[in-house]
Amino acid sequence: MGIDQRTQSDHHIWWHNAAVYQVYPRSFFDGNGDALGDLVGVQNKLPYLAALGVDAIWLSPFYPSPQHDSGYDVADPRGVDPMYGTLQDAQSLINAAHDHGLRIMVDLVPNHVSQDHPWFQAALAAGPGSPERARFHFLDTHSDEPPNNWVSLFGGPAWTRTTNPDGTPGQWYLHVFDSSQPDVNWTNPDVAEDWIRTLRFWLDMGVDGFRVDVAHGLVKDMNYSDLPDPVGLTEALRFDLDDGSPEMAAKRLLIENSGFFDRDELQDIYATWRAVLDEYAGDRMAVSEAWVPPHRASRYVSPTSLHQIFGFDFLVVAWDAEIMQGTILKAMSAVADVNAPPTWALSNHDSPRVVTRLGGGEVGQARARALAVVAHALPGAMYVFQGEELGLADADLPDSARQDPVFSRTKGAQKGRDGARVPLPWSGAAPPYGFTESTTNTWLPQPDDWAQVTVEAELSDPRSILNLYRTTLHERRAVTGPVTFVDSGSENVMIFSRDSGFHVAVNTGSTPWDIGAMFPNCSVMVSSDMQVGGKEESLPPNCAVWFIA
Ligand code: NOJ
Repeated sequence: MGIDQRTQSDHHIWWHNAAVYQVYPRSFFDGNGDALGDLVGVQNKLPYLAALGVDAIWLSPFYPSPQHDSGYDVADPRGVDPMYGTLQDAQSLINAAHDHGLRIMVDLVPNHVSQDHPWFQAALAAGPGSPERARFHFLDTHSDEPPNNWVSLFGGPAWTRTTNPDGTPGQWYLHVFDSSQPDVNWTNPDVAEDWIRTLRFWLDMGVDGFRVDVAHGLVKDMNYSDLPDPVGLTEALRFDLDDGSPEMAAKRLLIENSGFFDRDELQDIYATWRAVLDEYAGDRMAVSEAWVPPHRASRYVSPTSLHQIFGFDFLVVAWDAEIMQGTILKAMSAVADVNAPPTWALSNHDSPRVVTRLGGGEVGQARARALAVVAHALPGAMYVFQGEELGLADADLPDSARQDPVFSRTKGAQKGRDGARVPLPWSGAAPPYGFTESTTNTWLPQPDDWAQVTVEAELSDPRSILNLYRTTLHERRAVTGPVTFVDSGSENVMIFSRDSGFHVAVNTGSTPWDIGAMFPNCSVMVSSDMQVGGKEESLPPNCAVWFIA
């Protein structure tokens, strides 16, 4: 079924319950034989994605970029980098995705641009006090110290000093991320206007939605006041520390008061964006990447703001039934007051792969499957990062291969995110596993032991995680009704029900749990280990099931 009829009156809003597959274009599939993934490669694999059972694709940035932060340093938000193809390729991909019944979302990076963006180059050339510099945050200092103590999320100061044409030290500019990613000044009308152009550009091309990068970060404290605890803030902003603990809650408070996150004025920007999106038929939407505490989340999903906010709790949830239940309740209640559906993600290009995070090896594999079986039964939208459906673990890369600026800016103290970004294995027994026809090395080296986790190998194994995902992603469309938790009597077993006697159970303990004792007529529909089925008596450790009782 193609998506060719767009009407405002669709009673089924596609994004409320969509499963969205995140394509990281550089590492998805090489369609032109240059050892780099590209848009033609994505188009070639649309049948794979449609068969997987997802409803939409989100493309991480494919815009012209010097790639200092894998494309999140954008030199032209309305273009396509030649390494990924052309604008015609983008149009062709959007149309072909619609023909396959898949929606397309693209990434917007409105907090910063690349140092190669013409605006930044013009600002450097124009000098202090110019309208060109007013589009960024350029400040003077009377010493060798940066204008304030703000820190980059990638490590080091959030300010870099320019050099005047005569060689003397010049003004400083703000970059919350890498120094190659200058933050734009959202109080400058040029910035707001240009972003409306960008929204319309992609909406006119037919995209169905946007993922908004650092959606909580656009507006800054224009007094540029020092922070009370910049070091604490840096730690708080490290994704891997967000474990839901009271310590993390305190750190989140730091983020709230950071001077550059989650400021009230943001909502004026998103109200304008929303008005533009609402002009277009077809339920166009935007999901915000906003790392904010639960009580602030609903602000990003109101009828005058964006449509969804990523729920990141499953990226960090502990392997513990009680904590998992609390996490699910918290995530659902965070958006319940504005009647918005929750969203779930087990992994993305910024986080460790779920298999690795949950222990690695066979245990990590089993838990990753079980967590997916739980998540795919929850209401709301599901975001699936490429390779998650193959059960890939983080690749163990040599430091010499690492490309993430997090690694270099922290001088290796943090390894960075490259391990989750390695090109996908499609077929064959050795690198490049069908990813490319080129004999050139892939941009990040693939492990030697991926022969069993290629798409080809997993499709032919009925018990593979890929076949599990294909089952749950298709079947989740039929799962309806509110979530009701059921007391299992065990601190290691979480159970919830949806409509019509449909239940989900997960065992995070180390001993089997007797399902039959509590549900004598239980009939298992799906099991994360793909072994049990039919009338089951026992739920093994690190296993989750969907069952009718
Ligand atoms: C969040 C993106 O997901 C991440 O990959 C990027 O490095 C930062 N934003 C900066 O754009």
